[in-house]
Amino acid sequence: IKWRGKPVFIRHRSADEIAEANSCDVTELRDPETDDVRVLEGPEWLVVLGVCTHLGCVPIPYAGEYHGYFCPCHGSHYDTSGRIRKGPAPLNLELPPYKFIEEGKLLIG
Ligand code: FES
Repeated sequence: IKWRGKPVFIRHRSADEIAEANSCDVTELRDPETDDVRVLEGPEWLVVLGVCTHLGCVPIPYAGEYHGYFCPCHGSHYDTSGRIRKGPAPLNLELPPYKFIEEGKLLIG
């Protein structure tokens, strides 16, 4: 789906993906953020803009060295929390404002 003309990636994370997101040393991250501040509606749901923070390409989900997102344009690897882990992108994938308004219905914006 798109929000304000930008792709939005909605990911229902597995237990392994959540554990992987919580296993890193946050102090070593380029854009340090804990996983819990990136998942506004609980750890199972990650909602990020599908726009690479390097030059704006659309990363590939479930790809890259950290099994999150991979931008092949210049080789940015994001983890299962959408945080930049390797490559030229300076920042984590951006979070749009969102909330569940009822079971199975997500409001973005
Ligand atoms: Fe994504 Fe350059 S635009 S790595």
